[in-house]
Amino acid sequence: MERTLIILKPDTVQRRLTGRILQRFEDKGLSLAAMKLMKISRELAERHYAPHKGKPFYPGLIDYVTSGPVVVVVLQGNRCIDTARTLMGKTFGYEASPGTIRGDFGASRSFNLVHGSDSPESAATEIALYFTEDELLTYAHAGSDWVYPKDDV
Ligand code: RTP
Ligand code: MG
Repeated sequence: MERTLIILKPDTVQRRLTGRILQRFEDKGLSLAAMKLMKISRELAERHYAPHKGKPFYPGLIDYVTSGPVVVVVLQGNRCIDTARTLMGKTFGYEASPGTIRGDFGASRSFNLVHGSDSPESAATEIALYFTEDELLTYAHAGSDWVYPKDDV
């Protein structure tokens, strides 16, 4: 069972797309492990996006993710890091395939609605930035056996 950090970015909240985008992850069979509405401080944004520091889009990225409330979610499920990234689609909305979140709702380079961790290492680092260990809930999920066969890893 894997976990990933998802952020429904300020454009998702402002456009009232939170429920519809969360639904995509739930429909796929991924489970909620933690969730909160919050405003990301500049300090936290700089820690989260430290790997991008120095890139031309970095200042705009920090302004964007701190510009309004976001919904921060930990999802869990087998292979959920890659599964969530597939559901999200390519980074730029105009390149993302129809049927993906960014492909269906996004059209720009930077306002791309959603963040998802890109590796087990970044998931662990990013989850720890937003949640304490005791805020992460592990529980039996009704119907999980019908999403993943028992021998599925
Ligand atoms: P994310 O980290 O937010 O899930 O997005 P990602 O992996 O698909 O893309 P990444 O390369 O990690 O870029 C992080 C965020 O920076 C903004 N960006 N803008 N104007 C640009 O060229 C540009 N490139 C990246 C996007 O908001 C992207 O999600
Ligand atoms: Mg990324």
